Amino acid sequence: MDQFVIEGGQRLKGRVEIGGSKNATLPILAATLLAQGPCRIESAPDLEDVTHLTQLLNELGVETQRQGDVLTTNVVTETNSHARYDLVRKMRASICVLGPLVAKRGYARVAMPGGCAIGSRPVDIHLRGLAAMGAKIELVEGDIVASCKKLKGNEIFLGGPFGSTVTGTANVMMAATLAEGTTVIECAACEPEVQDLANFLNEMGAKITGAGGPRVTIEGVEALHGVKHRVIPDRIEAGTFMIAAAITNGEIEMSQVRLDHMMAVVDKLRQIGVVVEKSNGGAVAFCNRRIMATDVTTQPYPGFPTDLQAQLMTLLCLADGNSVITEKIYPDRFLHVAELGRMGANIRKEGPTAIVTGIKNLIGAPVMASDLRASAALVLAGLGADGKTTINRVYHIDRGYEKIECKLNAIGGKIERSDA
Ligand code: EPU
Repeated sequence: MDQFVIEGGQRLKGRVEIGGSKNATLPILAATLLAQGPCRIESAPDLEDVTHLTQLLNELGVETQRQGDVLTTNVVTETNSHARYDLVRKMRASICVLGPLVAKRGYARVAMPGGCAIGSRPVDIHLRGLAAMGAKIELVEGDIVASCKKLKGNEIFLGGPFGSTVTGTANVMMAATLAEGTTVIECAACEPEVQDLANFLNEMGAKITGAGGPRVTIEGVEALHGVKHRVIPDRIEAGTFMIAAAITNGEIEMSQVRLDHMMAVVDKLRQIGVVVEKSNGGAVAFCNRRIMATDVTTQPYPGFPTDLQAQLMTLLCLADGNSVITEKIYPDRFLHVAELGRMGANIRKEGPTAIVTGIKNLIGAPVMASDLRASAALVLAGLGADGKTTINRVYHIDRGYEKIECKLNAIGGKIERSDA
């Protein structure tokens, strides 16, 4: 299993390319199941999660090909509509094939995703949404079986105990494109990735309005055609590099950043003393002072994203004063706290809240990556720490960051990947 060995204390300076958004690419790839004819997806990041989804699509009769950052897909047969547990358990976003399969083929069998390191993560709202369109939903040997000859449009409320659901909105929106009549989703997720999916579907011939807001209207159409689409930049990767600049007192320029997708993040970083500015179609982040403490609560978009909570926490470990971090999306997403503690961080967790008392220095240590964003947080900690940090199980980071060690080394980082 690969590990990273990081020599901390290097100031990062230079330019990095930000890739296409993982969380936009995954539902967009699932949506290609709906197409009659080939699709070309540009700026598709080369990540473990994307590879897993293409493998699943291959099993479902979709031919896929990658050339650089372009993925092409073409549905060649519709005989197998079973997403097996072996593939689904590797990546929860596999659930995104459920809506397209039942809408296009009338039948879907998708293994029920289990829990994961960041919490229980149920899919009940996805299922309620599809049932409201007439799908018969059963649980058979751990698999969700959804069937319906022709889905029917309906008014569907998709709110849950933690607000809207991103992939739930994606699933229902995709299914509704081929349903008979009009579907209105209330309490839809407003994330830019949902909007990118809606743009993709509209380019395929769907009739979706309102995506990016809480009410989305989808008028069903008879068929969708193949299309060419460029995925939006990854706002979480960009945010991670902004924090990398801050924690190393460095300066990082990033290509193709959509700052308009990152208002809460940029606002918070500016509040604590990080300079973030537009630059050449991208952005630049730098910091030459000690970070100030702050309070932050994760929320659905446009609030501060849970996917940057762990990374911001790492930075706040070195802030001047006490910070309070409250997790409103995944109350258990705090596995990084104990690992940061091994590096000297002073963090007290109380329910869904972490109280971080800023210290002067983190100290390098052997630590364990537990999930994707926690791994990114540990890489940042290693960069900002004194001495050597060894991060085990870095396969988690390969799920969502393309060649992160190469990108960081190119701007002054000292990270070695080795097979432990
Ligand atoms: N929820 C339910 N029932 C459902 C669906 C969700 O109770 O049927 C709850 C969840 O347990 C959670 C909240 O609603 O408390 C929001 O979950 P959501 O469904 O929005 O999460 P998701 O769609 O499974 C996506 C991203 C995650 C990101 C979340 C929140 C993708 C592929 N994944 O997950 O990304 O954290 O939205 O923004 O888009 C990551 O990239 O590291 C990652 C985990």
